[in-house]
Amino acid sequence: MSIKLGFYVFLIHSLLITSSLCNSCASKEEVVPSPEEGQCSQESVKQSFVTRFTECSLSPEVGEGPYFIEEDIIRSNIVEDRIGIRLNVTLNLVDFNTCKPIKGAKVYIWQPDYSGIYSGFMDKPRVKREKMYPKDPRRFLRGTQVTNENGTVTFETLFPGHYPGRTPHIHYRIHANGNVAHIGQIFFDESTSQVIQSKSPYNQVHSRRMKNEEDGEFTYFNGKKSIINIDPQSLSGDSLEGILNLAINPLHRSNLMWA
Ligand SMILES: *[C@@H]1O[C@H](CO)[C@@H](O)[C@H](O)[C@H]1NC(C)=O
Ligand SMILES: *[C@@H]1O[C@H](CO)[C@@H](O)[C@H](O)[C@H]1NC(C)=O
Repeated sequence: MSIKLGFYVFLIHSLLITSSLCNSCASKEEVVPSPEEGQCSQESVKQSFVTRFTECSLSPEVGEGPYFIEEDIIRSNIVEDRIGIRLNVTLNLVDFNTCKPIKGAKVYIWQPDYSGIYSGFMDKPRVKREKMYPKDPRRFLRGTQVTNENGTVTFETLFPGHYPGRTPHIHYRIHANGNVAHIGQIFFDESTSQVIQSKSPYNQVHSRRMKNEEDGEFTYFNGKKSIINIDPQSLSGDSLEGILNLAINPLHRSNLMWA
């Protein structure tokens, strides 16, 4: 087991201890209810190619990684000067207890460019367990949006590149009720990744692309529940359309911050 994964296991372990302690003291704010407690309607609203929320089981969190920068860069289009395959990411947030949209939550996303580089950390620093501070002023492929009345945010971005040890992914973090309520990563199904990696500029990157099932974070955090739904029609064009529905607990306080 890698040191990094060990660290996550430690975090998860402390999360479990915290929530069981809190269950016994019945502090409502701290308790993370189990998905079965969610009272969710079975109604669904057709939204283009995806059916919204036929169930509201709690979406899994995924570790934050070292490259988050807490700056509110409020914008939908985060591409700047980067090249790659266009990707629109829509996230629909609902409260897993009520299945109702979460309005006014702040959603951050950040991701590497096609070559695996994150803005702010373009010199590829050695990853340490403590908090990492950005070394350069670039902020491409980072942005923040506030969910609308439907609990929705949309970002215009690019398909993310890969780098050694990780499958392609996009990070996100959700602030609600003044807390870091949910931290996650967006993944892609293998067939989508295969199509994209065969295209320029992704095919010019020579490090091997790790598959989801080989990625310790994907498997540990049940990443298949964080795979974005890509419109199959968009896959044959030159820009992708993806939707991920997230059922979260807006009163949760995430323990998955890097440091
Ligand atoms: C919310 O969804 C409804 C129904 O689909 C739609 O009519 C409305 O325009 C949406 N609101 C926003 C702000 O997009
Ligand atoms: C992505 O969003 C932009 C801006 O709304 C839009 O012009 C473009 O058509 C969208 N792309 C796809 C594939 O839907």
